[in-house]
Amino acid sequence: MDEVLALNNVSKSFDGITAVKNVCISIKKGEIVGLIGPNGAGKTTLFNLITKTHQIKPDAGEIRYHSHKINGMSDYQIARMGIGRLFQDVKIWGSLTVMENLLLARADTLKENMAYRLLFPKRYREIKEKNTKEAEKWLAFVNLEEYKTKKAKGLSYGQQRLLGLARLLCNNFELLLLDEPTSGINAVMVQTILEKIQSLAQWGKTIFLVEHDMDVVKQITSRVYFMDNGEIIATGKPDEILSNPLVKEIYLGC
Ligand SMILES: Nc1ncnc2c1ncn2[C@@H]1O[C@H](COP(=O)(O)OP(=O)(O)OP(=O)(O)O)[C@@H](O)[C@H]1O
Ligand SMILES: [Mg+2]
Repeated sequence: MDEVLALNNVSKSFDGITAVKNVCISIKKGEIVGLIGPNGAGKTTLFNLITKTHQIKPDAGEIRYHSHKINGMSDYQIARMGIGRLFQDVKIWGSLTVMENLLLARADTLKENMAYRLLFPKRYREIKEKNTKEAEKWLAFVNLEEYKTKKAKGLSYGQQRLLGLARLLCNNFELLLLDEPTSGINAVMVQTILEKIQSLAQWGKTIFLVEHDMDVVKQITSRVYFMDNGEIIATGKPDEILSNPLVKEIYLGC
């Protein structure tokens, strides 16, 4: 059983308007799977349902992570289970340094507060060292080492997305939901991000990504789900889906 994520007939409406309808999805360990579809199709909402972002939960259906039912858990519990999310609009702490952004993202950072420091100095030092090492490792992975002490707002947009990715990786999530990781980024930086994503999958992480750039989809995904009007209307290998007449009509306008 190497199924990491399973959605079974998941539906969600907002004020009577269906945003996600009877969605079934199955993703296995180490896969890079794409979620594509026109603007407003429901892709981000589907991610929100998985991670319980903005506290939204399915009206019907079931979401399982490694066969544990997670719809019913809090967003915090879901993250602790191993599901991490890169948001469509990456949120970094601009006035903090790049390193501080990573240290703050560590799940056990709370233990770095002043009281803990005074009461348990040895344990505090150990946690701090561990967090710093982990942060440095992922900073090197995304090629941002030289910006470590710089304010994050000085990074280019593409570098900010890489910082967002490093922040996710610091928490050792196993399943990564990436919402348009390459949007608004120059071609060279896109290739860097894609290489990073591919390395992560080779190391056993599982990737589910929303993507509008079909070259990116073809390059890195092994399977895609095509969503329209809240429904998954086709799934298969990228080439098959992109040559599907219905998909071409809805999405590519031809
Ligand atoms: N919290 C909410 N309240 C009301 N409507 C919502 C809410 N969240 C999403 N919707 C609606 O659900 C639909 C799907 O939106 P969603 O953002 O999921 O689309 P998307 O596929 O991610 O689009 P894009 O490609 O533009 O990012 C839209 O009609 C949107 O207005
Ligand atoms: Mg979206």
